[in-house]
Amino acid sequence: MRRKLYLETFGCQMNVLDSELVLGQLRAHGYETVTSRDDADVILYNTCSVREHAEQKVWSRLGELRDRKREDPGLIIGVIGCMAERDGATIFQRHPHIDILCGPGELDRLTALVHNAATTSDGRKRQRQVALMGAASRRSSTLEAAEDHLEMLDLSRSISPGDGPAQAYVRITRGCNKFCTYCVVPYTRGPEVHRPPGNIIEEVRKLTGSGAKEVTLLGQTVNHYAFRHGDGRTTSFAELLYQIHEAVPDLPRLRFVTSFPRDFTDEALAAMRDCRRICRYLHIPVQSGSDRILKMMNRGYTAGQYLDLIDRAREMMPDICIASDFIVGFPTETDDDFSASADLLRYCRFKNSFIFKYSPRPGTTAIDRFADDVPEETKRRRNNELLAVQQAVSTANNLEMIGKTVEVLVEGQSKLIVPPAYPAAGGVELGWERRAPLKTPGVVQLISRSRGDQVVAFDGEESLAGEFVDVEIIGARSLTLFGRVVSHSLAAVN
Ligand code: 5AD
Ligand code: SF4
Repeated sequence: MRRKLYLETFGCQMNVLDSELVLGQLRAHGYETVTSRDDADVILYNTCSVREHAEQKVWSRLGELRDRKREDPGLIIGVIGCMAERDGATIFQRHPHIDILCGPGELDRLTALVHNAATTSDGRKRQRQVALMGAASRRSSTLEAAEDHLEMLDLSRSISPGDGPAQAYVRITRGCNKFCTYCVVPYTRGPEVHRPPGNIIEEVRKLTGSGAKEVTLLGQTVNHYAFRHGDGRTTSFAELLYQIHEAVPDLPRLRFVTSFPRDFTDEALAAMRDCRRICRYLHIPVQSGSDRILKMMNRGYTAGQYLDLIDRAREMMPDICIASDFIVGFPTETDDDFSASADLLRYCRFKNSFIFKYSPRPGTTAIDRFADDVPEETKRRRNNELLAVQQAVSTANNLEMIGKTVEVLVEGQSKLIVPPAYPAAGGVELGWERRAPLKTPGVVQLISRSRGDQVVAFDGEESLAGEFVDVEIIGARSLTLFGRVVSHSLAAVN
């Protein structure tokens, strides 16, 4: 049987983790991963449906494979993840050469699907393999059944002691029940289910034993976590944080994404304040600063309530870094609505914001109820304007960091050498300094992250990847801080 596998991942961290888990399962069944799809016998795309743009990339990948499949009918091509779930019928119609469709809620069955596709195609009677949650099965399946699926995939994770990566994801919830009117996730990933705390803690412990220094808990609305035990007790998100913090004392950094504003309790904020190793970083999308638009989005909070939460978080943790998401050009959005978003961004002083132009998604309530009436040109202009506001806020935030010393976890060598920038007189405008590539042998520009998720570039030895280093901040641009090593136990440079 053919066994060379190529997997490309699109979309969010949840997809990155799903890809890691299915790769682990397929490897355990003898599949070998290759880095070029030209060398593969099995090609899989783990897809995202959140915006149309993400889907277009996959459509073009699939189109490119048409000729290859004609020449090599034994090649197996699979579409997994949200696009498979949302768009399965169209994928088969437009691309008869696709063999496998597998939704994100069914990935524990993927190995069997790939195996079946490979055997039937060798036998020349090709049979398409499909595993989708689908509307019908969703209605009939119980929440318990969904929880079982979830656990099978997550528990299959192979973690070997000592040689794992420094950063790892651990899922705590899957799916979403919020039904924001613009969003496909509740339809593609299904109802929200929560993992038992014992299994989560065990996974964090094993990952830490394998070398993880930073674990990120994942959930679409991660802070909505609440596990109901058989005896009626509930473990809340705040309790889960305390429990992990206490049970895994060797883990230097614990984070979580993505938080939902309405669900943030004071207890969860207190857990972040009280537990030294929980990073003071929140990614908490607001989407809009206009109450009218928030209501049309079905977000369940007002801008005022969101601001209260940010104020409470900052009161309890003045050094907290907060990131957000915005959608611009939502149906009927006026200049005033948009200005409210810009004002909110300035008030909250976000570390960074992910800004998206509204993209109408088939199957969502918004596409049925509201005409996509903001012209593309206006969406683009608002997108650029909000980016500019964020850039000014980020620059001001980053300039305040100059002179401070922060502990960073090194991710590796930066892909491009980022020219450092230093504050010019007055401290607002940034002066630029171009410089020659680093000459000291073994010394490269490293990219690292602070506990608040700030990106810090500094010159250091390549071997520092995966290590903690104290760096003094000596320069700033809107997206990057520049540092100089102050101390490190293994190799101090500069
Ligand atoms: N159009 C534009 N942006 C969207 N997002 C989700 N759905 C849409 C859509 N239909 C954005 C939201 C969310 C992020 C993951 O993607 O800002 O927080
Ligand atoms: Fe989508 Fe809203 Fe759920 Fe986030 S909370 S995944 S935006 S439905």
